[in-house]
Amino acid sequence: MFGLNGDISKTRAWRKLGKYAQKMRKKQMRDMFAEDAKRAERFALQLDNMWLDYSKNIIDSKAMLYLLALAKKAKVEEKIKGMFTGDKINSTEKRAVLHTALRNRSNEPVYVEGENVMPEINRVLGKIKDFSEAVRLGKFTGHTGKKLTNIVNIGIGGSDLGPKMAVEALRRYHLKDMNFYFISNIDGTATAEVLNKLSPENTLFIVCSKTFTTIETLTNARTCRKWLIDALGEAAVAKHFVAVSTNAEEVTKFGINVDNMFEFWDFVGGRYSMWSAIGLIIAIAAGFENFEKMLDGAYSMDNHFKSAPLGENMPVILALLSVWYNNFFGIRNHVVVPYDQYLTYLPAYLQQLIMESNGKFVDLENNFINYQTSPVIFGGAGTDVQHSFFQMLHQGTSFIPCDFIIPAISHNEIGEHHEILLANVLAQSEALMRGKTIAEAAAELRAKGKSEKEIADLKKYKSFRGNRPSNTIIFKKIDAYALGQLVALYEHKTFVEGVIWNINSFDQMGVELGKQMALKILPELQGEAAEQAHDASTNRLIQLVKRLRK
Ligand code: F6P
Repeated sequence: MFGLNGDISKTRAWRKLGKYAQKMRKKQMRDMFAEDAKRAERFALQLDNMWLDYSKNIIDSKAMLYLLALAKKAKVEEKIKGMFTGDKINSTEKRAVLHTALRNRSNEPVYVEGENVMPEINRVLGKIKDFSEAVRLGKFTGHTGKKLTNIVNIGIGGSDLGPKMAVEALRRYHLKDMNFYFISNIDGTATAEVLNKLSPENTLFIVCSKTFTTIETLTNARTCRKWLIDALGEAAVAKHFVAVSTNAEEVTKFGINVDNMFEFWDFVGGRYSMWSAIGLIIAIAAGFENFEKMLDGAYSMDNHFKSAPLGENMPVILALLSVWYNNFFGIRNHVVVPYDQYLTYLPAYLQQLIMESNGKFVDLENNFINYQTSPVIFGGAGTDVQHSFFQMLHQGTSFIPCDFIIPAISHNEIGEHHEILLANVLAQSEALMRGKTIAEAAAELRAKGKSEKEIADLKKYKSFRGNRPSNTIIFKKIDAYALGQLVALYEHKTFVEGVIWNINSFDQMGVELGKQMALKILPELQGEAAEQAHDASTNRLIQLVKRLRK
């Protein structure tokens, strides 16, 4: 595909980048800014009310040209087309990847195995609309006729992180008399702490599981079901439980009527599913109108992604920058810092999206890979994280590329809060880029009247190497439309990275081994099965746990 052995790292485009990165390592961004008055304009893109400034990266025009050549070599344009038109790009599971069809606002046909999937998608969307409105208006009530004001999403991974992130992001649009909860962890504490706050009569559970076989979700759902039945009886289940799944059979087995089931399909991956009925809680929390606006925002990013030339394409540019540091500077991390309290859960959501998609070591042609794939993603809301891991961003021995996400206007413009927040984020990206030389640090200390001895003792500690890259994504305000754009931007970025690394970004076989082993250990812990030979450490740990639990 890429060459004789299909290895992207053996291509000329890759080698050229390797060489050029050696050269770029010696360049300082602060000098490049000083030399080129147009740099900030040149390395910037806009889509609607969303701006991307990527000028604070260790790049120049030539580096970008080489990166774009790599994208061409990896056939990014063809692969984008293939995804939107339903090619079975999830090769190991032989599935199309069509989360984009869920937000295909043009309603033009999208075919999977010769069948247009849009009528089904629209039917379920209609069901989401009717149900979310009925719950919000108190028309669909609980068993005893009370309004369902506590809505609990039970799901994990993609059936939790997307909806949880979006419900929080859109908190400003929630109805005042409703509360939203998420139970994901198998840890009984997670369930107990939520149920302790609730009363069965006004609680609705949405059990979200693509497969409806996930042990955490089913165990939590069973516990919640029992809690409800203990209080209101079996007949109440129909009014307090709905399911979102691709698996009608398992939903029925669990005891939820298929009338109360919202379908989605195999062509939607778990971590790409918040646009489907997995987002039901988003529609209930923020209103169906906002749910649709979120789809509209994602659709606008889809169109941009499909049609913008590679060099002007936001997801492509972000992916290429990620590849640049990951594969040509040996950088293993990437940090995402939204400066908006409502986007608190965005980094956790992106951890699954990016690392579950691209943490792979076998390529599309069944070969082990000899280059680095997904970086480690972490982050948190600013300014909080400035007081935790930013020390390392500024003075750690290596750099960590950073995405700053900024709404120009806050939903809560109280006094000077937002201006102080904005000043901070802008200062961070400037400080990371510019740094402070030892001479500058010394001059500052001198200006403060420090002795030459004190200056010599402190100047290195007070210096900053700078040249630490960041992208800045600015919105007007975090509303549903902007959220849709932002999430779709990262989805597509992730996809392009996967295309370049020649991997399948849409399976997650790496989560299976631990699940299998847990199923073996569980009966051993419960004493129902004879203990099997594990390694010595695991054997001892099983014994220890059993002893402590006696
Ligand atoms: O962690 C593995 C995984 O399969 C994720 O990809 C998925 O989002 C999550 O488990 C939950 O799966 P399900 O929606 O089938 O319960």
